[in-house]
Amino acid sequence: MQLTPDNAICSQRLAQKLLSSPKMLPPTLKPFLLRLQRETDVDFARLIQLSDHILTFMSGESHQKIKNSLAKSLGKNNLQSYERKIYQAGNFLVKSLQRVSGSINLTKDIEDPLFLYIVKEIFGYQPKSDEALIKGIDIAVRFTEPMQSVRTLIEVQSVFDQLTTEISAQINTTDACGLIHDISQGLDSDNVDSHSKEQVATMIATLIVATRTTSETLSNILIENSRLNRAERKRFSDEHWVKNNIDDLIRFCASNAYLTRTAAQDLNVDEHQIAKNDDVLIHIPSSNRDSSYYDNCDYAKLSDQLAKRHLSFGAGIHRCPGALLATMILSHVLPSLYQQFPDLRVDTNKLTYKATKMTTRLRSAPVTLY
Ligand code: HEM
Repeated sequence: MQLTPDNAICSQRLAQKLLSSPKMLPPTLKPFLLRLQRETDVDFARLIQLSDHILTFMSGESHQKIKNSLAKSLGKNNLQSYERKIYQAGNFLVKSLQRVSGSINLTKDIEDPLFLYIVKEIFGYQPKSDEALIKGIDIAVRFTEPMQSVRTLIEVQSVFDQLTTEISAQINTTDACGLIHDISQGLDSDNVDSHSKEQVATMIATLIVATRTTSETLSNILIENSRLNRAERKRFSDEHWVKNNIDDLIRFCASNAYLTRTAAQDLNVDEHQIAKNDDVLIHIPSSNRDSSYYDNCDYAKLSDQLAKRHLSFGAGIHRCPGALLATMILSHVLPSLYQQFPDLRVDTNKLTYKATKMTTRLRSAPVTLY
């Protein structure tokens, strides 16, 4: 069964089973890079080396050990010590919006400042330049997009190289703080093998790049809310309502669109037969609106129901390690924004998107606050 976007899996149950199956492996990048290197004479040695330490492409025992360690650094107990900073993300965003003069843009004035706040205040990573980091992340996120051009991959290689070098220097100082400190200490004390400072820095770089999904998901929620009426939107200023519905908000609005897996051997899941080496493509937004699984697939009718599992953070061994952090941040940011700007609306006729396949990435969208 060879899948294309036209026949991607849209069933929540089937997708959960496939993602949880040890017979389904994550995407690989290395063979593609090795082939490109042979065919183009471009030196991708660094990117090949880095890809060995990027969780998305890893599997087996070393991947599992790292995930166990991250589950502690990014788990409930440790994140409790960041509760105040996470809470302040909303106030920070409100204040930075109050300072904007002229027209407001969803990416430049909401996504970027929130992303920078998380990276600097919660991860404790201090970029040399905010602008350069934002530009770099825009390139780095393409790493997980399939079939990138040689030019893009050269740029990706350079960005990851720079990020890794900077992070490596910061985790090696006694001033290291925030999650980058906790994560590197955690890997150290958990005795995760292959944990040279550079490998740890590569992993932290991946976490920082992946954090961009949080601000992208916020944008998607703000866009969806702009299609609601005033009374429906008002509920977003109530922090209890948001907390009770945050899982479903993320179910409907996460920016990830597709997940891929390859069968390591023949397998049979429900009535589907998947042959060894077959690629599987899962469409997250459709699976998350599978009416045979969810009672409510209408965004306007969210109502504190007990949230069911969804695919916005993936499933199985590759499930997102930043799920709790992202959920906590969005739970705090949304009420802060709507308490201050109850009429916040995105002009949904003027949305422009970047040319990406696996994730929905907004390029620009005008916002009115009042
Ligand atoms: C709303 C925000 C977020 C969404 C919707 C999201 C979504 C996802 C999804 C769907 C996956 C699974 C990919 C796959 O199975 O191939 C994933 C993996 C991952 N996410 Fe997130 N993510 C978010 C926030 C974050 C944050 C804040 C971090 C960092 C703290 C993060 C770090 C990662 C990493 C490192 C992986 C790879 C895990 C692995 O392959 O084992 N994500 N994320």
